[in-house]
Amino acid sequence: MRFLLLCALLALHGLVSAQEDYCFGKDQERTQTRQFTSKTAYQIIKGTNIDKQYQVPKCEPIKMWIFHRHGTRLPTPSTIEAAPRLEELRDLIVKNYRVLRTQPDTNALCKEDQFGIQMWRWNSSITVDIEEHLTRQGYEDLRGTAKLYQRYYPQVLTKNYNDTYYLFRHTDTQRTTESFKAFAEGLFGENNPAHAVDIPDEDLLLRPYDYCTAYKEQNYKGPDSDSYKYRQSALWNNTLTDISRRLGFQYTLSADDILLMYDMCRYEQAWQVDRTSVWCAAFLPEQVTVLEYEDDLKYYYKSGYGYEDNSRLNCRAVKDMLSHLSSPASPHVVAYFGHSTGLQTLITALGINKDDLQLKADNYNSLTSRRWKTSNIDPFAGNFVAVKYACPTDLEKEKVVFFLNQNAVQLDWCNVGLCNWSEVQQRYKNLADANCDEYYCRSSAAKIATHASLLIAAIVYLMH
Ligand SMILES: *[C@@H]1O[C@H](CO)[C@@H](O)[C@H](O)[C@H]1NC(C)=O
Ligand SMILES: *[C@@H]1O[C@H](CO)[C@@H](O)[C@H](O)[C@H]1NC(C)=O
Ligand SMILES: *[C@@H]1O[C@H](CO)[C@@H](O)[C@H](O)[C@H]1NC(C)=O
Ligand SMILES: *[C@@H]1O[C@H](CO)[C@@H](O)[C@H](O)[C@H]1NC(C)=O
Repeated sequence: MRFLLLCALLALHGLVSAQEDYCFGKDQERTQTRQFTSKTAYQIIKGTNIDKQYQVPKCEPIKMWIFHRHGTRLPTPSTIEAAPRLEELRDLIVKNYRVLRTQPDTNALCKEDQFGIQMWRWNSSITVDIEEHLTRQGYEDLRGTAKLYQRYYPQVLTKNYNDTYYLFRHTDTQRTTESFKAFAEGLFGENNPAHAVDIPDEDLLLRPYDYCTAYKEQNYKGPDSDSYKYRQSALWNNTLTDISRRLGFQYTLSADDILLMYDMCRYEQAWQVDRTSVWCAAFLPEQVTVLEYEDDLKYYYKSGYGYEDNSRLNCRAVKDMLSHLSSPASPHVVAYFGHSTGLQTLITALGINKDDLQLKADNYNSLTSRRWKTSNIDPFAGNFVAVKYACPTDLEKEKVVFFLNQNAVQLDWCNVGLCNWSEVQQRYKNLADANCDEYYCRSSAAKIATHASLLIAAIVYLMH
């Protein structure tokens, strides 16, 4: 043990004289941790200007409608099951540096990062029976957002719970159930009486995407998709090769191996925000930007503007928001706890963060400052909050501010984030007036079409 410690100290000492190469362990800024897409830590990405954005002169906040993604969670079963491979990669990297001496001349791992990877251990308490459970940090994320919004809107988010004034609902998972509890604890304290309404068998409000066949059949990452084409590009291939070189490999690791290290980096960074994950050291900041674009492309077609139909899926949620905020009656606070796809398709239905240019496999360079960055839209604990204001002395007596992760949403038909309610109703009229049962999913229409063509087929058959 002493010997190990001595080695550690020597290794740490070595970095004083280290080269100019990028060193994650010594980087104070770590800007790449803001680019971890749907695995970005909320604490890193959340807005800091709500101070200046929550107060609206001559207006009184009266109602809130919230769609909250669950907080930081444990990995999916496939990542948990791949943990032994990560230990193999760790040992191979150590061998590359210590025994084979195949580290590159430039952009090699610094001593500190090498040492971090060497010391890494998988937490063996994380087993598949607790897959995707909310973590301690995830609980804190939601307790934190509740406290923060309550600080700015104490007259709406009152500390006394009753089930007429508050309406809570979550999906049928551990991570959203716990997220709801954390949020309620943030508002009302421990051992509060808050409860959520029953979850219907078909949760069409919070998980419409589970009940739409046409949606599930959309190709967002398979062959011919833009994400797939991007993963065949020279930029992608060169990035995988560069990452492999940095880790001392003289061949290119598989994309699966590299994405496994990347996933662990992103999870660990979100589980313990004030620490650093040693796996993040495997990637130079510009390589993270290349990986980020792949995920953004995938989400763009899975739940963003890539397919027109994605904007229809959350018909019910948008309608629900409009009707709750229109009515003077209780509930005054509506909060739903759901998932990534739910939050992204909601943002898409509302036309938020839409780029003029389509995201494509081959336009990485023209979209470096794109609006569609899932890191900013949908981190762990990502949340969309609509605050309704009453403005009795204004010409326009009802207004709303939309917040996304504590940033006021800037829509071009609003005035620096402040929107006229009449304009909101006008802009989302197609959804407000739609029959969501038909509108939300193309397959309901497709079903009718199939019936019609079967009928024609039958008639044609009978005529012969
Ligand atoms: C390991 O994981 C378990 C389950 O998530 C957690 O309770 C524990 O704190 C973790 N241990 C360490 C050392 O991070
Ligand atoms: C419920 O809570 C709200 C806000 O605190 C309060 O105005 C209202 O009177 C309460 N209603 C009941 C039935 O207790
Ligand atoms: C990138 O690598 C893949 C798989 O190894 C290959 O099929 C593809 O042709 C490569 N792309 C380019 C542009 O070299
Ligand atoms: C909101 O409504 C008021 C009064 O009708 C109007 O003067 C103002 O331009 C509107 N604001 C926006 C951003 O459309």
